[in-house]
Order: sequence, then C-alpha cells, then structure tokens
Amino acid sequence: MSSVFHRGAGDLPEARRAEGAAIWDAHGKRYLDAAGGAIVVGIGHGDSDVVAAMQEQARRVAYAHGTQFTSEALEQYATELAPLLPMDEPRIYPVSGGSEAVETALKLARAFHLSRGEPSRHKVIARTGSYHGNTLGALDASGREPLRRPYAPWLGRALHVPAAYEYRCALPTHPDGCGERHAELLDRAIRDEGPETVACFIAEPVVGATLGAAVPPDDYWPAIQEVCRSHGVLLIADEVMTGFGRTGRWFGCEHWGVRPDILAAGKGASSGYWPLGLTVASGEVFESLEGTAFIHGFTFSHSPVGAAVGRAVLRKLRDGDLVQASHDKGERLLKELMAELADHPNVGDVRGMGLMIGIELVQDRDSKTPFPRAKRATERVVAAAKDAGLLLYPSTGCADGTDGDLVMLGPPFVITEDEMTEAVDKAAAALRTLTD
Ligand SMILES: Cc1ncc(COP(=O)(O)O)c(C=O)c1O
Repeated sequence: MSSVFHRGAGDLPEARRAEGAAIWDAHGKRYLDAAGGAIVVGIGHGDSDVVAAMQEQARRVAYAHGTQFTSEALEQYATELAPLLPMDEPRIYPVSGGSEAVETALKLARAFHLSRGEPSRHKVIARTGSYHGNTLGALDASGREPLRRPYAPWLGRALHVPAAYEYRCALPTHPDGCGERHAELLDRAIRDEGPETVACFIAEPVVGATLGAAVPPDDYWPAIQEVCRSHGVLLIADEVMTGFGRTGRWFGCEHWGVRPDILAAGKGASSGYWPLGLTVASGEVFESLEGTAFIHGFTFSHSPVGAAVGRAVLRKLRDGDLVQASHDKGERLLKELMAELADHPNVGDVRGMGLMIGIELVQDRDSKTPFPRAKRATERVVAAAKDAGLLLYPSTGCADGTDGDLVMLGPPFVITEDEMTEAVDKAAAALRTLTD
C-alpha cells in the first residue's frame, strides 16, 4: 500500500520517462501529453540543457535566502525577461507557483494603495468563471464554483463580474459590443462599491481551465483597461496559463495591447522543470513601495535554481522560435479539431488561441444544454483518451457552476506534425464514447 496522499483518484501509472511531447509509464506505455501536464510544459519534456542549467546552479548555490542574497542567475534572468513583459520598467518577484504569484499580486495591490495614502482601497474585483489558484486569497478571487464550494465559509470578500464567455454570453446585445457592455458592468460594480474602496481588478487574458480557452471579443480588453485606469483601480493580469507563449504571443495581454500594473505568471515560466511562479510589478507600482516595506515573503522565493531554470527555459523559447511555433501549430490544431468534430452532436464549441484549446461538450448542440454532472462526460472522455495514450486536461462547471463539461489541449510547443494528427484522431475517438 502506498504512503503517498495522491492527488489523482484510482490507480495512477508511474511516470518513468518523458521526452518532447510524450511520457512513458513503468510498463512502457507511451502517452502523448496533449495537455502539457496542466497546460504547463511549453518547451517539451526531457530537455537536457535545462537540466544542466539546474544542476550547475544547484552545485554553485542551491539556496540563499531572498532577504540576505541575490544571485547572478536571478539578476540575469530578470534582465533577460524584463524586455519581454508587456509592462513598463517591470520588477520581477519570483515565487513557487501560480497561486503564490496571485497571492503576492493581490497583496502588492493593497500595499501600493497603502503606500499612496489610500488605506480604504482593499476590495478585489474578479470574474465569475475564472481560476486564480487554490490558496484562500486566490481561491476567493476565483469564480470556479466546484473548487470554491467546500470552502465557502472561508470565502466571500472578493466581488465578481461576469467573464467574457462568448459561447454562453448572456448580454442582450450579443454578439455586438460585448466588450463595451462588460466594461460598463465593471464600471458599475466599481461605482456601486465606491472607487475609493477598490484596490484591483484581476482577470486572465484568455480564460483558462474554468471556461476552457474562452477568448474575449476584441473590444473587451481595451475597454476594461480604460475603466480600471479611470478609477485608479490596479489591473492584475493573471498570465499563469497564458504566459510564456501559450497563446502564440509571449504574453496574452499583447493580443490587445494591454499594459497591466501587476502580472502573475507560473506554469510555462519553468515549463515544469522547477516550481516557479512570478509576480511582476510595473515600475510605477514598484517605485511607490520604495522606502516602505512590502510585508510579505516565502522561504522559497527568489530561488537561484528556479531563476537558472527560468532563464534556460526562456532561452529555449527564444532560440527555438517556440512562441511562433505555438501560434502556427495552434492555428493548425484548432482548424483540424474543428473540422474533425464539426458533426459531433456533443461538441458545442472548439475555441482557443495558440496551443491553448478548449472543447466544450454539450448534451444538445442547438440549445447548448450541458450534460447533467451525474453523466460525468468530461471524466469519461478523459479516461478513454488516457486508455488510448492521449492526455487531455479536464474541467467541469463551465455552464452554471455545476454542469458544463470541458476538455482542453495544451501540448508542448515542440509537438510534431504527426503527433498533432495523433492528438486529433485520438481526441475524436475518445469523444465518440459520448455517442456510443
Ligand atoms: C490562470 C491561473 N492562475 C493561477 C493558477 C494557480 O497556479 P498553481 O496551480 O501553480 O498554484 C492556475 C493554475 O491552473 C491558473 O490556470
């Protein structure tokens, strides 16, 4: 009997080896990792240059506390990353994952307002249908009902406005002017609360797991940014899933020219080689804190090894032109999935950007009626795919917080043409279990 408190249910295969877009288990079975884990692995598995960078840094200095030392690896990483960020004079605060990055971002927003003599600004506005992490601050910002439900008594401070979810948009004027309407809803929420009480608005540029790669209309982000600025509300871009090339640009914000005040990243920053998250403050936010202490910190933040890994991953993305590869391969994969699934009676929508793709499953296509949760549509599809050697990323609750089934694809950007064909064929076969 295992002494591990496993995350997954049932018997988990043992991962033995991984390379490129594939993982092999202890029995030699190969899985095409079309989910990149949890939409994490951008540069591909088994990269020996990243392993060498990690090893070299660990040999030199594995750990030095962030309040006592900086490191060459960290300084170099930040210098190379800064010009790629959609921010002015960014300052990078490395942590150990996406949830920590979001917690840090929320506290940073609060610290900014305190430093400027606006202590009444403490409220966080986020969106329904969002995910920002599983620690309590990040979970409170999240609008992912199945994850919130057990912990509801501990949550409830954050406010939520609707996310841009074009497939199920409830705005009366849909599809016209949805971005503007959403911005009006945010504007009204801020005014109702009192702008002098609102610290920040946090959102994912393209909604990740909760709504399955829901891409907002083009008028959404410019209007939202304008509303935030007009009320002195800091804009936090949660790029934990969209960052580091996942949507076909370095950061999702770039698609709409958004310049956030604070940015959170994780996942693709290290491509899974190290538990790395990043909180980034704009120059203005950083400077406001100078002379005052940012009361916050984690034992494992500012890790020299994490920085060495981040830097090696950045180089792989840049030298291999992998962000462009995510764009180009994503276009192809999306097109092929759309064509293959066009007549499937239970595929309501296929959407996404770059190599971040969501497939929404419905009981009835015309009415967009979701499967009842008890049918476990997502679980059945994901299990059938895994049996066939294809890893997909599951999510539920997108339609109403309980019902609503999604599977996502987010493969490494090094996925080959043959592997993309395999992913499409095996995904289509797994989806046939819904009609059998
Ligand atoms: C958009 C977004 N934010 C935050 C998180 C939390 O990141 P982590 O699981 O690394 O704590 C995730 C994870 O899926 C995410 O997709």
